[in-house]
Amino acid sequence: MRRFDTIVTGNRPVADGYRELRFAWPHDDGRRADDPVPGRFFTLRAGGRYDPALRRPFAFSDWRPAGDAACVFQLRGRGTEYLAALRPGDGLDVLGPLGRGFGRPPRGSRPMLVAGGIGVGPMLYLAATLAADAAAGLCEAPILVVGARTASLVPVAMLPAGTAVCTDDGSAGFSGTVTDWLASFDPGLPPAFYACGPTPMMAAVAAVAASRRAPYEASVEQWMACGVGACAGCAVRLRSGEYAKACSDGPVLDGSTVDWEAMA
Ligand SMILES: Cc1cc2nc3c(=O)[nH]c(=O)nc-3n(C[C@H](O)[C@H](O)[C@H](O)COP(=O)(O)OP(=O)(O)OC[C@H]3O[C@@H](n4cnc5c(N)ncnc54)[C@H](O)[C@@H]3O)c2cc1C
Ligand code: FES
Repeated sequence: MRRFDTIVTGNRPVADGYRELRFAWPHDDGRRADDPVPGRFFTLRAGGRYDPALRRPFAFSDWRPAGDAACVFQLRGRGTEYLAALRPGDGLDVLGPLGRGFGRPPRGSRPMLVAGGIGVGPMLYLAATLAADAAAGLCEAPILVVGARTASLVPVAMLPAGTAVCTDDGSAGFSGTVTDWLASFDPGLPPAFYACGPTPMMAAVAAVAASRRAPYEASVEQWMACGVGACAGCAVRLRSGEYAKACSDGPVLDGSTVDWEAMA
């Protein structure tokens, strides 16, 4: 993890109220163990030099060594409004990579990637990484399913070929939720589930994974303050009664251990 100043390389709308922000990533200095793998995140100072306290967490939606990194963000408040106004060449203060990312799928399993709403960013990165691994014979080809309330909230141009799209109102793709879609889909191999999205969706995927006795890794987007394990502001209750820190134990947690009712 490191803090660095860099520049914005791109900032474009990708769906209604969603933007992709790209920024230059420093040259590789040999710290391979600290690569920003899918599921990890970074924080941005999202208020310029006049509002230095305003750091905001975002998941990597892409990363190229000695190239650039990206996130897909949703306009929500003053921090993301500030980010939306940035232009290529503008300065950016980045802290990362932070947290724990997704693990590799068990050999012989079908990686089933489930994204809901703005949870699409990290799942796009995971899908691209696993597709490259599959091409190299390291795992089975992943299947990505993306759920949104309506068609205008789907970043269509960013989705890899073969992505299953589900909309609550039936305006694009499958009419219904991602878990409705999963119920009727045969992955052909024992599935391994990965998800990022709203808590009710993540809880529903936990139930699907449990019913299929499948592993499940869930990226929880819990509210965060320090982002580095120092404040306990991001506690996630586990079924054991213990708590995990989303920022340092996660944000990717074993979904079968999370107390999803307590998260609701
Ligand atoms: C690990 C992690 C990864 C994330 N990845 C993404 C992503 O890839 N794309 C994306 O659009 N959003 C992501 N988020 C949520 C994102 O951080 C918030 O949407 C953003 O901070 C809102 O800032 P704001 O100033 O615009 O909104 P504000 O007006 O400050 O708040 C609006 C809402 O945003 C959420 N929020 C605000 N501050 C935080 C915070 N420090 N931590 C978490 N949530 C907050 C709260 O729900 C709040 O009600 C992620 C959050 C976490 C914890
Ligand atoms: S946000 Fe401070 S410990 Fe996680």
